[in-house]
Amino acid sequence: MSSEKRSATARALANVALVKYFGKRDVGMNLPAASSLSVTLEPLVTRTRISFDPAWSEDEVRLEGAVAGERFTRRVSRFLDIVREMAGTEERAVVETENRFPTAAGLASSASGFAALAVAATRALGMDMTPSTLSALARRGSGSAARSISGGVSVWHRGEKPDGSDSFAESIALPEQLDLRLVVGVTDAGPKKLGSTEAMEQTRCTSAYYDNWIRVVEQDMTLAIQAVNARDIDALGEVAEGNALAMHAAALAARPGILYWNGTTVEAIHLCRRLRQDGLAAYFTCDAGPQPKILCSPDDEPQVAEALSDLPGVTRIIRCRAGGGAAIEG
Ligand code: PMV
Repeated sequence: MSSEKRSATARALANVALVKYFGKRDVGMNLPAASSLSVTLEPLVTRTRISFDPAWSEDEVRLEGAVAGERFTRRVSRFLDIVREMAGTEERAVVETENRFPTAAGLASSASGFAALAVAATRALGMDMTPSTLSALARRGSGSAARSISGGVSVWHRGEKPDGSDSFAESIALPEQLDLRLVVGVTDAGPKKLGSTEAMEQTRCTSAYYDNWIRVVEQDMTLAIQAVNARDIDALGEVAEGNALAMHAAALAARPGILYWNGTTVEAIHLCRRLRQDGLAAYFTCDAGPQPKILCSPDDEPQVAEALSDLPGVTRIIRCRAGGGAAIEG
């Protein structure tokens, strides 16, 4: 066996869902109960370098330059076990990952993190992957990571197969075809959020609105794809805001209820409505945390950014635009 290290570096962007993934048909395989639609966001990038070496006896993970915690390391290691099995190797790896997100943004980095790791690890091991097999692989690390392989607006197909091979994401509009903007409002950090898998399972098992939520997603997917094809940001925004509110409604109706918002999140919903009365294209969305995100057109972005940063409780804003897919670096 050669003792040579095999290395690669990749980058991937975070994504925000405009039609949300919130419910699994298979927890172990991260298979969704419904399809979803999202956009990758510049400048929310993760950069990951990996080196495999037959001489190492265990995986080592470094996050932002420091040794990562046990839980995170175990999660990365379990993901690498899947890659190793596919590649037919037992080699352990050193993983160095950095989120180039503005600090304290409170934004999920698992999507960009597992997408970058999937790209880097498979390249380092010399595996020949199509974009759809890469997306299905990234999905195993974190469901939403499936949507950070492709760029611009992507659809993650629910798929039917138990092995998940038909549950991957692909781009339906590149950033230059639909120039979306998304302004993220960072609000004061609330209590630690419930993990997304736990929240999804609690909602599936106890919310009286769960089955209807899944039906809403199926209808919203049709409307959102039509809006993207028509390059209609207003139509897409209307679906996105309704879909986000429906997801949170289903989670709120779980027992016990799951409440991710703080007061500032609610004020941001009112703000979007005021902005629309003033003729702006501005639509609310929000994930498993309190940060409001406002989808808008490039023309309206400066006004939306100003209004959101003026909202009491918003400590900073991050102006994002539709970005590209995951890629090898260097
Ligand atoms: O990828 P996960 O398991 O962290 O799930 C993400 C779930 C939401 O962010 C709430 C919605 C979505 O579609 O991204």
